[in-house]
Amino acid sequence: MSAHIIDGNALSRQLRTEVAARVQALKAKGVTPGLAVVLVGDHPASQVYVRNKVKACEDTGLHSVLEKYEASMSEATLLARVAALNQDPSIHGILVQLPLPDHIDAHKVIEAISPAKDVDGFHMASAGALMTGMPGFWPCTPYGCMKMLESIGYELRGKHAVVIGRSNIVGKPMALMLLQKNATVTICHSATADLKAMTLQADVIVAAVGKRGVLTADMIKPGAVVLDVGMNRNDQGKLCGDVDFAGVQQVASHITPVPGGVGPMTITMLLVNTLEAAERASN
Ligand code: GUN
Repeated sequence: MSAHIIDGNALSRQLRTEVAARVQALKAKGVTPGLAVVLVGDHPASQVYVRNKVKACEDTGLHSVLEKYEASMSEATLLARVAALNQDPSIHGILVQLPLPDHIDAHKVIEAISPAKDVDGFHMASAGALMTGMPGFWPCTPYGCMKMLESIGYELRGKHAVVIGRSNIVGKPMALMLLQKNATVTICHSATADLKAMTLQADVIVAAVGKRGVLTADMIKPGAVVLDVGMNRNDQGKLCGDVDFAGVQQVASHITPVPGGVGPMTITMLLVNTLEAAERASN
């Protein structure tokens, strides 16, 4: 058996077409959704990420501003910029690209963003809203994973989902989203005693560790659905995920590739969140 590949590029194209139509409808009411992307320093991967985010906005008709600052920028100056963007009516979403330089407290900066503009879903108010099932912004990567499961018509109720990784950005919110859809959820992490014993029980596995080869074919149940959030490089320097794709593909029923899987969905959900922020602000 060879698993069905969930194509994140194709699903993104479809969702971005829907976003573009909603953007036009909002523009007809005199509101252009706007995203501010703030980059501090010259972290190479971050430069690529922010460029892709701004490009995605342009392609779907959203207004975007990219603010780039030297790595030496003070925390106080960055907090003042965030405060100004909170007040700017042309900006509905604020994204401060992480990681920030060591002298800046990232937590303080995220908490300075208005929850109404927290399109990354990183603010404690957003995390609390997700935890309690209240309206708020969901972090884009796990939100994209949920859309991928939805795209294959997957019914989570009663299923066992295993999330590998417990970050605030992916693992923990992912577990809460799966729980909200009535899955039974296990979170595994670096101190889990027997990862394989857990993953062998899983109907759905989300690998979000940031280390290649975390999940291999012998660790999954035939027919499991596998979502790969990892972004790593192999020995040849090629982009790869956390999952041994070639092996796992032979046992799983559905799998996401890297590249072309969860990655494009993250940016797509950022567009969705920004559009929703603008729609909420206009109502
Ligand atoms: N750094 C890596 N991924 C992300 C993301 O999704 N949002 C922000 N703000 N920073 C990141």
